[in-house]
Amino acid sequence: MSFEYFKYKGVNFSHGSYTDETLTFAENEFQVLDDDVYIVTYPKSGTNWMIEILSLLRTKGDPTWCNNVPIWLRSPWYETIEGQSQIKDVLCPRVLTSHLPFHIFAKSFFKSKAKIIYVMRNPKDILVSLFYFSKMLSLYKDPKTFPEFFEDFLQGNVLYNSWFDHVKGWMQMKDNSNFFFITYEELCKDLRNSVIKICEFLGKDLDDSQIDLVVKHSSFNVMKENKMSNYTLIPQDFMDQTKGSFMRKGITGDWKNHFTEAQIEHFDEVYEENMKYLNMSFSWD
Ligand code: A3P
Repeated sequence: MSFEYFKYKGVNFSHGSYTDETLTFAENEFQVLDDDVYIVTYPKSGTNWMIEILSLLRTKGDPTWCNNVPIWLRSPWYETIEGQSQIKDVLCPRVLTSHLPFHIFAKSFFKSKAKIIYVMRNPKDILVSLFYFSKMLSLYKDPKTFPEFFEDFLQGNVLYNSWFDHVKGWMQMKDNSNFFFITYEELCKDLRNSVIKICEFLGKDLDDSQIDLVVKHSSFNVMKENKMSNYTLIPQDFMDQTKGSFMRKGITGDWKNHFTEAQIEHFDEVYEENMKYLNMSFSWD
């Protein structure tokens, strides 16, 4: 069976969870509330890790909510068919999730006081993570071979298009006080300090022992064992658990186990060409 993405304003989406109507609604009609917080990411950047962290911040480290409510209901994707039906039950102040690129994000956000946490990750590791995830999730075109997928990723022939455009788009917000960005690599290197920075941005006041609980319950091993967070509750026809695991490795640098010398060289050229005018350096550079 052939698989085709459809385009909304030049961006690839798949028929399973998106329609022109849900995307038009997300962009033009969706009402952002002043106390909303949005987790915005390119897929595979650590989106669900951030959902878990913010869920635990809400409960001051108590894992009961995370252990009883699926992660996608705690913080739905507001641009998807499923997410839009789930939002009415989200606790206020709402934490919502999105992979939308900057140019089609909810217009009402830009007139609000709502906040965004943008999580970024080394695109080489995203490529590897997305390669495996695309085999499992029906929303993605099944990648035939790693070299083929490698080219598709570099050219943005994937759901939500190019990583480069996503990051360049959102970095226009980097000096806004309601925008905070952090990398997956920073979270891996020093989760505790990252949680403290997130608390500062959100104006949350947790004591040391509560911060310790947030760190403990958002660790890879705890999330991997939590069926409310590890996506094993998702129906097989949507996410095929026989083909992989959502909580796959949770490390930095796995690209080194996958890229050939030629692929490294090619990736670096494309990276340099795309990122040179951004004038920013990242923890993976
Ligand atoms: P890998 O496939 O490299 O293991 P997203 O939530 O944006 O889809 O990102 C998924 C990636 O984040 C996966 O990467 C997953 O293992 C990783 N991840 C999820 N929770 C994590 C955690 N608590 N610690 C480290 N990595 C985590």
